[in-house]
Amino acid sequence: MLHTKKIAVIGAGRIGQIFVRELSKCSSQVYATARSEKTLEVIKQLGGEPLRDNKKAAEKADIVVISVKPYQFPSIVNDLKETVKNKIVVSVLAGVNLNTIREAFPNAKIFRAMPNINAFIRKSTTALTYDPSTKVSEEDRRLIEQLFKCIGSVYWIPEEYMNTWTSLIGSTPAFLAEIIDALVLGAVMTGMPRRLAQEALLDAVKATIEHLQTIPVHPLELRDEVTTPGGTTIYGLKLLEARGVKAGLMEVVVESTKRGIELGVAIEKNIKKSLLKMKS
Ligand SMILES: NC(=O)c1ccc[n+]([C@@H]2O[C@H](COP(=O)([O-])OP(=O)(O)OC[C@H]3O[C@@H](n4cnc5c(N)ncnc54)[C@H](OP(=O)(O)O)[C@@H]3O)[C@@H](O)[C@H]2O)c1
Repeated sequence: MLHTKKIAVIGAGRIGQIFVRELSKCSSQVYATARSEKTLEVIKQLGGEPLRDNKKAAEKADIVVISVKPYQFPSIVNDLKETVKNKIVVSVLAGVNLNTIREAFPNAKIFRAMPNINAFIRKSTTALTYDPSTKVSEEDRRLIEQLFKCIGSVYWIPEEYMNTWTSLIGSTPAFLAEIIDALVLGAVMTGMPRRLAQEALLDAVKATIEHLQTIPVHPLELRDEVTTPGGTTIYGLKLLEARGVKAGLMEVVVESTKRGIELGVAIEKNIKKSLLKMKS
C-alpha cells in the first residue's frame, strides 16, 4: 500500500533526512523541503526530490510528514493550510500536541509520531498516536504504521504518554551511552584496553537485552541468576544500592519527563501566539 504513495517531508534536517533516505525505498516518491542549498543537495543525494516550496511538496503528496523544529512550525502553517485538506499529516515535533496541529490544519487527518535516534540504523522505536476526531480510517492507520516500520518498530500509545516516551525512549540512547561509557572506564581503570572493554561490553549488553526479550523474565530474575552468594556480582550490586543508582535512574526518567512537559508548555504557548497573530 505504502509503495504506491507519495510522501512530502517538510523540513529535511537530521531526522527528516533519515525519512527521505528510508522512505524513498518504501514509497513511490519522496518530496522533501528545506531552506538552504546545502540541505536541498543532500535531499537529492538521499534519493528524494528537493523542493523549496512547502506548498508544492504537500500538493504533490498523499502523506505530509512535518519535521521542522517545533519553533519553526508557525513558519510552515500558511504554506500547508489549504493544501493538506483531507490529507494525512504526521507531525514528529516534540512537545506539540494533536490539538495544536488540528487547530493549524482543521481538515487534515492528524497523527503524531515520536521516533528516536536509532532511526539512523532503521531501528527506531517509534510511538504513534492520532486524533480520532479527524476522520482517521483504519486504512490511514495501517499506512502510517507501515511508514514508520520502514525505520524500525512501532507502538501505538495514548497521547498522554508522549512526554514519558520522549524521555524513556527518546533520551535513553543518551542515558545508556553514558552508562556504557562509565562501565568501560571502570574496566580501563583495572587495566583493560578501552577498545576491548567497549566492544565486549556492547556484545554483552546486546545479548542481555536479547535474553530478556527471548525468555522473557522480569529483569530481577535475570539479576538473581547471575548473583552467586558471596560472589563478585553481589559486591557490585551492594555498591549500586549504596550509591543510589537505581533511585537515581528512576529520577532521571521522571525529571526528564517533567522537562519535556515544561518545554511542551512553552512551545505550545509560542505556537498558539503565532497562530493567533496569523489569524488577525
Ligand atoms: N533529531 C531527532 O533525533 C528527533 C527525534 C524525534 C523527533 N524529532 C523532532 O524532529 C524535528 C526536527 O528535528 P531535527 O533534529 O531533524 O531538526 P533540524 O536538523 O534542525 O531540521 C529542521 C529542518 O527544517 C528545515 N526548515 C526550517 N524551516 C523551514 C521552512 N520554513 N520550510 C522548510 N524547511 C524548513 C531546515 O532546513 P535547513 O537545513 O535548510 O535549515 C532543517 O533542514 C523536531 O521537531 C524534533 O522535535 C527529532
